[in-house]
Amino acid sequence: MKYREILDEIKPKKSEKEKIETLCKTLIDNINDIAKKENIPVEATLVGSVAKGTWLSGKADIDIFLPFPLTTPEDELREKGLYLGHECIKKVGGKAEEKYAAHPYVTGHIQGYEVDFVPCYKIKDANQLRSAVDRTLLHTKYIQENLDEEKKDEVLLLKKFMEGIETYGSEFKVGGFSGYLCELLILYYDSFENVLKAASNEWRPGYVIDIENYGTSRKFRDPLIVIDPVDKNRNVASALTMQKMTEFIVAARNFLENPKKDYFYPVKLKVSKEELKKEIKKRGSRIVAVIFKHPKLPADTLYPQLKKTEMSIKKHLNKEGFKVLRSGHWSNEEDLGFLIFEFEVWRLPKYKKHFGPKFWIKKHYYRFLRKYGKENVWVEKDRVVSRRERKNYKVESYIKELLKSGKIRVGKDIKNYVSKSKVMNETEFLDYVPKQSLEFLKKFLNPGIHLWR
Ligand code: UTP
Ligand code: MN
Repeated sequence: MKYREILDEIKPKKSEKEKIETLCKTLIDNINDIAKKENIPVEATLVGSVAKGTWLSGKADIDIFLPFPLTTPEDELREKGLYLGHECIKKVGGKAEEKYAAHPYVTGHIQGYEVDFVPCYKIKDANQLRSAVDRTLLHTKYIQENLDEEKKDEVLLLKKFMEGIETYGSEFKVGGFSGYLCELLILYYDSFENVLKAASNEWRPGYVIDIENYGTSRKFRDPLIVIDPVDKNRNVASALTMQKMTEFIVAARNFLENPKKDYFYPVKLKVSKEELKKEIKKRGSRIVAVIFKHPKLPADTLYPQLKKTEMSIKKHLNKEGFKVLRSGHWSNEEDLGFLIFEFEVWRLPKYKKHFGPKFWIKKHYYRFLRKYGKENVWVEKDRVVSRRERKNYKVESYIKELLKSGKIRVGKDIKNYVSKSKVMNETEFLDYVPKQSLEFLKKFLNPGIHLWR
C-alpha cells in the first residue's frame, strides 16, 4: 500500500498551513485586543486538530477556546464569551451562528472556514473540571507534547480511513471515533496499520487501553474503553457505539486482506429511484416509511430523537406480531425527516388469539365466555382462549393508528410533527422522497456496503 500517495492528498501543504496560521493569529489577536479593551481576563487559545497539526487538508474547522478564570460565574462566562466571539467575527467580516449545545458557543463563517469560539474555564488539571469542554485545553497540550511528526501522518491516515468507512466522528449521528481518540490510538499502537491489526485481532467488547496506567477501567461499561491520559475518570471512547466499533473492525479486516486506496475515500454508489424500486421488488419484503416535516434542530438533538422514535415504533410493531427486518432514520437536517421499516411480516390474520384465565375457576370461565361469545371461545389445555377481531391487520394502518395513539415514545422536539406524518409504502415513498436521501436508502438496503471496496 502506497500511503505516500494518500498523504500527498490529505496532508496540508505549506501554503494551506500558512493561510490557516495567519487567520488563527489574526483571530486570536483580535480577541485578545477586545478582551484587553473591555477588561475581560481571557487569553484566546487555539485548540483542536489545527493546534495539534492533525487536520485533514481542506477540512480544517478552527477551534478557538476562551479560557476564563475559575472564579468566573457561569452566566458571566457565557455572556462575555459569546460577546468576544461575536465581536471578533464582526471585526473580520464573518457570519456568526450561535450554537446551543450542552455548552454555549458561537461559530463564525470566516473566509471559507468554520471557526468555533468556545468559552471555557482555565484549568490546570482534570480535578478542576467545571464543564465538559474544559478538558480540551488539556487534550491539546497532551497531544502537542506526545505526538511527533511521523505519528501525525499516521493520525491523518487513520482519520481519513475512518471517514472513508463512515466511522469518524463522535457526534450522535455517527457514534464513531473522535479526532482525539484517533490520536490516542496512534500514540498507543504507533501506526495506522498497527491500529487496524489490533482492532482486527484483539479488540473485544470492553477492550481497555490505558496509556498512563491509571487502572480505572472498571468504572466503565462501554464497548471500547480508552482512559483519557489527562483525566482518569473519563473514557475517551464513551460516544463510540458497539455498531461503529464492529464496523471499524470489519473494515479493518477487509482492508488488511486486500488493501486498496479506495478505502480512504467515500464509497462510490450510483443510485436512482428506478434501480432502488427494482432492488426492493426483488427482495420480496415490504417497506413502509413514516415521513414528516420537522423544525431545524442541532444535529445532536435531532438524531437521538429520531432514533428513539424509530425504536419505539419498532417495539410496538414487533409486539403486535409484525416482524421488522431492519429499520432506520434519515433527515435533511433542515425540515424533512423519515423513519423507514423493512418487514418480514407486514400482514396479520384478521383475528388475534387472546389467552384468558385458567379454565378451572368456573366464575372466571363464565365471565370470559359472556364477554366474547360462545362461538369465539375455546380451550387449550387449561386455558380459555378467545378469538378477537384485529382492527389493523395491515401494517400501514396499524402504524397510522399507532402514531395517533400517544403510545409511542417520541423525542420531545419532533413529537407534534411525527403525529402528523405521512405513512407510505415503498412505491409512494420512492416517488415522494428527495434525491439527497437515495444514497441513504441504498445503504439501508445494503447495510455492509460502506465497509469494503
Ligand atoms: P473536534 O471535534 O473539532 O476534534 O473537537 P478535532 O480534534 O479538532 O478533530 P477534527 O476537527 O475532526 O479534525 C475539538 C476538541 O474537543 C475535544 C477534543 O479535545 C478535541 O480536540 N473533544 C471533542 C473530545 O474530547 N471528545 C469529543 O467527543 C469531541
Ligand atoms: Mn476540530
